[in-house]
Amino acid sequence: MAGTDDMEALYSPDAIQSGTTSPGVPRPGLAWDARLRGLVTALATRVPGTAGHCRRVAAQSRLVAGRLGLDPPAVARVECAARIHDVGKIIVSPKILDKPGPLTSAEYAEIQRHVVFGARLVASLEVPEITAIVRHHHERLAGSGYPDGLRGTEIPLGARIVAVVDSYDALASPRPYREVLTPPEALEVLQEEAGHTLDPEVVAAFAA
Ligand SMILES: [Fe+2]
Repeated sequence: MAGTDDMEALYSPDAIQSGTTSPGVPRPGLAWDARLRGLVTALATRVPGTAGHCRRVAAQSRLVAGRLGLDPPAVARVECAARIHDVGKIIVSPKILDKPGPLTSAEYAEIQRHVVFGARLVASLEVPEITAIVRHHHERLAGSGYPDGLRGTEIPLGARIVAVVDSYDALASPRPYREVLTPPEALEVLQEEAGHTLDPEVVAAFAA
């Protein structure tokens, strides 16, 4: 489970609003921080297998966002969203999440609900960009993703970043139903998907 030190090391809420402020973005404070920690703890407790995944995706998303030239508050928002991108999985049955084999269409639909439910939970942070990243991190460039079938730049940049890093981490992590890919093999898959399902500029920044 994520502890206090871990959160402080990973993520600095002050950066969310420091300097360039956006209308409607609250200044992080104790109450805001408590809400964020509540979401991280809920995910780590209910879906323990995702804790390491979310930490890795947050750290890599921060690097990629920086390489793409986002300003520091925007980088912090991407990192924060990545940290809790799968929080909606707390409503999905562990039997489905951990199923060692192909999913039925009903089970797949159940898993897909995690983005909509996650966005509802994350809305309590009152940072629209973070909510949008959580909702749209499974959208795909050609419109084949979910929940809204957004295409290209209709998909928020932060969500395109998390999509790339999330995909890599999934490919390079052990799964019960397939062999784990080596880092070069996983990167090769991303590069094959660049321009089709994944943003090519984001893939290039990830690979840099
Ligand atoms: Fe997800």
